[in-house]
Amino acid sequence: MSRISFPDGFIWAAATSSQQIEGAVTEDGRGMSIWDRFAMVSGKIEDGSNPAVACDHYHRWREDIEYMKWLGLDAYRFSIAWPRIIPGGTGQINAPGLDFYDALVDGLLEAGIEPFPTLYHWDLPQVLQDKGGWASRDIVDAFVEYSAAVTRRLGDRVQSWVTHNEPWCIATLGHEEGHHAPGLHEPATALRVAHHLLLSHGRATEAIRGEIPKAEVGIVHNYCPGYPATDSAGDIDAARWFDGFFNRWYLDPLFKGAYPADAIADRVAAGHLESADLPFVQDGDMAAISIPLDFLGLNYYSRNIMEAGPDGEPRDAKNIPKEELTDMGWEVYPEGLYDSLMKVHSEYAPKKIYIAENGAAYDYPVDANGRIADIKRVTYFRDHLLAARRAMADGVPLKGYFAWSLMDNFEWGFGFTKRFGLFGVDFETQQRIPKDSAFWYREVTASNAVDDTSTSTPQGESRAFDR
Ligand code: FCB
Repeated sequence: MSRISFPDGFIWAAATSSQQIEGAVTEDGRGMSIWDRFAMVSGKIEDGSNPAVACDHYHRWREDIEYMKWLGLDAYRFSIAWPRIIPGGTGQINAPGLDFYDALVDGLLEAGIEPFPTLYHWDLPQVLQDKGGWASRDIVDAFVEYSAAVTRRLGDRVQSWVTHNEPWCIATLGHEEGHHAPGLHEPATALRVAHHLLLSHGRATEAIRGEIPKAEVGIVHNYCPGYPATDSAGDIDAARWFDGFFNRWYLDPLFKGAYPADAIADRVAAGHLESADLPFVQDGDMAAISIPLDFLGLNYYSRNIMEAGPDGEPRDAKNIPKEELTDMGWEVYPEGLYDSLMKVHSEYAPKKIYIAENGAAYDYPVDANGRIADIKRVTYFRDHLLAARRAMADGVPLKGYFAWSLMDNFEWGFGFTKRFGLFGVDFETQQRIPKDSAFWYREVTASNAVDDTSTSTPQGESRAFDR
């Protein structure tokens, strides 16, 4: 057993998002979001639940900061709900909405925790969806207006800003596969949406820097490496296809100012684009999108294995034995995090990288001693951190790690059926219970090191939850 240290100043953190934890969806002037609406449609949320109360964080944030402090977090990534700030989407600012985040930021700073807000983590004001949402180019100006309003208010205290969380999910899950709000099945629309997300990121970055000269601005991409099932040419090409669709469609515009030609050709072949001239791209867009980033956030959960189907079409490989799956059905594959970091570093060379989310859904009961012994989550975190540390040793400028998630929460289309938290939440009582993984992470943040074999967590006296 040995302790693997991280460099001084490495940021230990955790993440959440507004729609998943806040609740209070009709309070203090908040407008309706597309996820409030989506959850009203029968069959969209697995357990029939909705995010109206969630973790009630809107009322319990002071207590939640105490838990973050207990964990020893250096930073906390949360998101800001656009419908609280500008309930009408554009125009009138709702003062209580800004006041809420203002107080949260002060509370975090008092606790010695750096606030790390994301401006858009999927809760679009429904009124903007009614006008076309991300498919309409007008949304770019609306997002810039909203971003400026937030950063004007919080920018004296908040330095690090994320524009968007996971544009791929918004575009593909929301507009092509229909699993997420707004629930469309329109591949051509998804490409337009992706472009408006990227463009709004670029324009908002400029606006944020205008408000806060010392701002650090980045975007968060959910990186998923694709591996070929075999070394056949067809499978290798299927992996290339996946990488173009999932990763390069976003990272190439951001870092290279152009959509990847091979992935454009794939979309033309699929009939999602009429030709390689992207109709939604206007003069100046690609320059705006590729404005230099201060950091890139990567969310990593798993990998994909690809193969060529019977007609040569790229598809998820069947019949590949997987050692360990989380409750999401996602393969546990820490080596994929190492590969992803190395690949992003060599291909795009961002100045700084954060792992902006990483974690696993496992449902463990509270045992007779009141303990949630989530050993598999501890193993997951440990092995991913060790993979990340190896990438750092090999030159990747990784500056921090945000565990997903601080607490169990509303997991989108899965409702409350998937538990990702370091803290368990009893959704009847709203009690937060530190899982073994929280005790383990607390040791990591305190020692700035990960034990490379043990997954043991403090026992006995030291288990007392002494906030
Ligand atoms: C990511 C999302 C986050 C959460 C995790 C499990 O895609 O950013 O909100 O749902 O997955």
